[in-house]
Amino acid sequence: MFPNVRPRRLRRHPRLRDLIRETHLTANDFILPLFVRHGENQRIPIASMPGQSQLSVDLLAQEVKEIEELGIPAVILFGIPEHKDATGSDAVSDDGIVQQAVRAIKAETSNLLVMTDVCFCEFTDHGHCGIVNDNTGMVDVDNDATLRLLAREAVSHAEAGADLVAPSGMMDGMIETIRMGLDDNHFEHIPIMSYAAKYQSAFYGPFRDAAESAPQFGNRATYQMDPANGREAIREVDLDVEEGADILMVKPALSYLDIITRVKEAHSELPLAAYNVSGEFSMVKAAAAQGWIDERQVALEVLTSIKRAGADMIITYFAKDASRWLDD
Ligand code: PBG
Repeated sequence: MFPNVRPRRLRRHPRLRDLIRETHLTANDFILPLFVRHGENQRIPIASMPGQSQLSVDLLAQEVKEIEELGIPAVILFGIPEHKDATGSDAVSDDGIVQQAVRAIKAETSNLLVMTDVCFCEFTDHGHCGIVNDNTGMVDVDNDATLRLLAREAVSHAEAGADLVAPSGMMDGMIETIRMGLDDNHFEHIPIMSYAAKYQSAFYGPFRDAAESAPQFGNRATYQMDPANGREAIREVDLDVEEGADILMVKPALSYLDIITRVKEAHSELPLAAYNVSGEFSMVKAAAAQGWIDERQVALEVLTSIKRAGADMIITYFAKDASRWLDD
């Protein structure tokens, strides 16, 4: 009898397909990014990210209620300050936009996990992820000067009530510096999720509109990783594990599924997050708006693939819609 091995037998009955499914996506996998801005009663749609908006602090209460009701466990906050300057001083201010947002959410909800992105690009007038000078003989982000500020930023977020901090600036030594800063200030219980392997990706384009954080000169190639490199990602995550990262992250996700798998294999002992970034979201939205693809099916397929590759959690702008779709 030919063929005697027939994988199709397991695909015939829908309940059997359910039983043998290897990857299960749930609302519990998602972390929703929120863009928080100054002002009152402001909900400003982000043109390049349909359905996403910048929200003023006073509108967060309503927003997080909806997020909690959908069963989404966490948000990650990005801030758009009223004033930007060379050192990104709003980022380390007790009254900074992210600190205000954390307090507002914490005052409203008991259970939502509040994560903060720890970086400077949204707060500096030049749009780079730290202090810029020419100490090394070229205009560049000064690694060690930035480290000192990163620790202050993380501590300030923790003081406001953040449950977890997520440094995204790709500075060498940032995890250890932030760990020491937190511990010195009695925040030894606050975990660090490291954007450990973060690539210099054109998929961040829409985010930079959303966060008004595009670099005003040059690019981020001296700190974010070259998309061509895979082995280097393992070196980056190894360092962050040694420095004390509690959760690792690969970013972006969709063009980096191989990196997700490799990082999960190298460090299966640690939880792994993947960031389904703005450009990945906007591509699906744009094609769906043209009627070229089915948004719901494609989005769920993308998210499932990220989980199948090895991610334990996914930062995604689809979090709310995907949670509703999974509930249907
Ligand atoms: C800040 C940061 C960026 C993103 C997350 N944190 C932008 C960047 O590095 O330029 C991008 C997220 C997205 O595209 O959705 N450093």
